[in-house]
Amino acid sequence: MPVRPPLPLPAGFPERAVVLLIGLPGAGKTTYLRRRRLAALSSDELRQTILDDPADQRHPELVFSALRHLLRARLRAGRPLTFVDATNLSPREREPLMAIAEEYRYPCVALYFDVPPEICRRRNRRRGRAVPEAALERLAARLRPPASSEGFAAMYRIDAAGGAAPYFGPQ
Ligand SMILES: Nc1ncnc2c1ncn2[C@@H]1O[C@H](COP(=O)(O)OP(=O)(O)OP(=O)(O)O)[C@@H](O)[C@H]1O
Ligand SMILES: [Mg+2]
Repeated sequence: MPVRPPLPLPAGFPERAVVLLIGLPGAGKTTYLRRRRLAALSSDELRQTILDDPADQRHPELVFSALRHLLRARLRAGRPLTFVDATNLSPREREPLMAIAEEYRYPCVALYFDVPPEICRRRNRRRGRAVPEAALERLAARLRPPASSEGFAAMYRIDAAGGAAPYFGPQ
């Protein structure tokens, strides 16, 4: 198969930032990064590393303390861009990551995957390791779109086709 060149980030994307991906399972977060050949700190990869299973939802405190530790390490090392591939559904989950960014004087950027739950559900069903439907419902009820009041320096909305546009918060 021919190797496709990587897709670009949105025009004007910050060159130095902590970038939080936000969206339901099946919203296309990991795919978005893969198509751009962007490495990320991924909660699923850490589940694999720590629990030998990317779908094992036990021990979230171990997974996310490892994630925060790695984020700190990257920022201390001065890496310009760090993508965090996790659902990051609510301010409560985003706040500790944003606090670390602030501690190291990095701006935070939101990539909000605004994909209807029905599409996430359909994609989720087709996947090898599907999230149970009831869990997806609970996550959809918890999802809070990002707002600049949380402290994001820039926000982008990604649609179901992977298209990006600047985002100004929930209407
Ligand atoms: N823009 C797109 N168009 C069509 N299909 C897509 C698109 N983005 C992702 N998909 C498909 O949707 C499914 C889920 O995508 P992906 O694994 O990227 O979701 P995710 O947001 O990373 O989910 P999770 O939070 O569970 O890791 C995959 O099978 C992928 O191929
Ligand atoms: Mg993913």
